[in-house]
Amino acid sequence: MKTANQSIKPITTKINDNGNLEIGGCDLVELADKFGTPLYVFDEATIRSMTSSYKDAFKNYPNMKMMFAAKAFMTKAICKIMQQEGFGLDLCSGGEIYTAKTSGFDMSKTLFNGNNKSYDDLLLALESGIGTISVDNFFELALLNSIAKSKNQTVRILLRITPGIECHTHEYIQTGHLDSKFGFDLTQIDNAVELIIDEYKNLNLVGLHAHIGSQIFEKKVYFDEVDVIFKEIKRIWDKYSIVLHEINLGGGLGIKYTDKDMPISVYDIADTIIESIKIHSEKYGLDEPTVFIEPGRSIVGTSGITLYTAGSSKQVPNGRKYQAVDGGMSDNARPSLYQAEYTVQIANKPDSVADQKITIAGKHCESGDILAKDIILPEINEGDIICFYTTGAYGYSMSSNYNRVLKPAAVLVNNGKSDIIISRQSYEQLCESDVIPDSLN
Ligand code: LLP
Repeated sequence: MKTANQSIKPITTKINDNGNLEIGGCDLVELADKFGTPLYVFDEATIRSMTSSYKDAFKNYPNMKMMFAAKAFMTKAICKIMQQEGFGLDLCSGGEIYTAKTSGFDMSKTLFNGNNKSYDDLLLALESGIGTISVDNFFELALLNSIAKSKNQTVRILLRITPGIECHTHEYIQTGHLDSKFGFDLTQIDNAVELIIDEYKNLNLVGLHAHIGSQIFEKKVYFDEVDVIFKEIKRIWDKYSIVLHEINLGGGLGIKYTDKDMPISVYDIADTIIESIKIHSEKYGLDEPTVFIEPGRSIVGTSGITLYTAGSSKQVPNGRKYQAVDGGMSDNARPSLYQAEYTVQIANKPDSVADQKITIAGKHCESGDILAKDIILPEINEGDIICFYTTGAYGYSMSSNYNRVLKPAAVLVNNGKSDIIISRQSYEQLCESDVIPDSLN
């Protein structure tokens, strides 16, 4: 069955009677007018369609724990949606823990990841009642145990391992191959387990965790990942008589940014994972474990779009046509960071014939601030509203104030309603952390 991550546009996208693009029952030109641009727009129906697809696809596997990877898009409103959908949260910083906690999220359904959690991060995690911590390395084992001991607490932990699986995605977002900054190498697991048994009495080891990468289009890597994890669980059982009954397979399911992308459906991933678990449980004589997954991009990526207003343009004599917009690499770092490509439409004339080769440039002071290179679009005029699809994941979450450009607002649309979920940053907020020392006054 097809799932929303396989489409470029949010599921409610249409052209309305005004001839404009509409999402969630809201006219995008009116949204731009009301809230200003750049503007992130999130379609609630698409987010919920993805969470529903995940729940449905795994419904025959009872011990399933879905955790939304908050790094893809984290705000208090998203925490509320995830709570309503019965999802937990995969958190990876003190800031994400704080956001979840202050949104009123049930912290027992959270998991804390990261390769360099600090003393303060871990303390906050414990004080916030985090559900499980995925411990990444020896340094963290010792640190976490000492904090837990000082608080007279026992912490549920997973060990993050590097499964040695390479998937075909951008080098920066591959994480499961052996030469990686994340997790214990397979040869280090026994040492970690022995330390937990002998010394770290405040750590309760319940399972193993791996994450093989992001924007993945292949099923087989998930099958293999389960295989690697089961082999380790079996070995640990044979050697130490410890039953590890929880496994975390990470996230990674890809989405469709352009017609060149062919992501698979949530059902494909679910069937592959469940099949691999059944095969390997039987093969190794182990009970079927509790399984965590941590999808981020596939839950929110397709739901989000960014609206810009067209400004200046430049025709290089015998060269490119540049059209500048009022945002750029500060609201979407992905094109400059990963050469990511996007699908673009003009919200106020989506039906016009696309017959021009245009490069959409951001407003930042560097030549690399290009949002889309040499794409085919209708003629753009100043004031046109330009819609970039699939910016819902890792757009806002990687945004910056480069050039002291303000961070855009985000609205959640549904059934004709549009609610602000992130207010547009103000100049006062921009400067609120700045301090002029007395010596400079
Ligand atoms: N779990 C762990 C441990 C992760 O490191 C990640 C993503 C996820 C889950 C969620 O993966 P997803 O389902 O979103 O693929 N900034 C990059 C993506 C970096 C992904 C980092 N880790 C981008 O914009 O493409």
